[in-house]
Amino acid sequence: MGRTKKIILYLFLVLIFFVFMSACGGTDVTAEPPSNDVCASIVDTKCVRCHYKTRICDALGTKSKRKWKKTINFMMKQGAGLTEEEQKKVIACLSSLPKGSEVVCK
Ligand code: HEC
Repeated sequence: MGRTKKIILYLFLVLIFFVFMSACGGTDVTAEPPSNDVCASIVDTKCVRCHYKTRICDALGTKSKRKWKKTINFMMKQGAGLTEEEQKKVIACLSSLPKGSEVVCK
């Protein structure tokens, strides 16, 4: 009996541990994307120097978050001057906006 109780206690602790971990890790994944105003202002100030917004509009809804990260890294290599914070925000924006969103396409 004592052994069974120990195992149950152990499983219980493992369960708590995982619940705790997923609660912590989850905040990043479920974080709300920035507001449309924030998205639009970054795109309008930082992204139109080298090409029209149509380039960005056309790509909406075709890239995963990971692919947008790569795209933004590429833009940075081209000389787009975004801060770390702006990069994170614009990646969150672009990967969550639907195809044809007027935030980018208007
Ligand atoms: C310093 C210049 C520059 C800036 C600023 C810039 N880009 Fe670009 N971007 C380019 C160039 C050059 C290309 C063309 C690459 C090609 O045709 O292969 C491009 C192409 C693109 C494309 C189409 C290709 C693809 O990978 O889907 C998207 C989308 C894009 N840019 C998004 C953005 C966004 C979003 C921003 C603002 C955060 C931005 N760009 C700012 C230089 C820039």
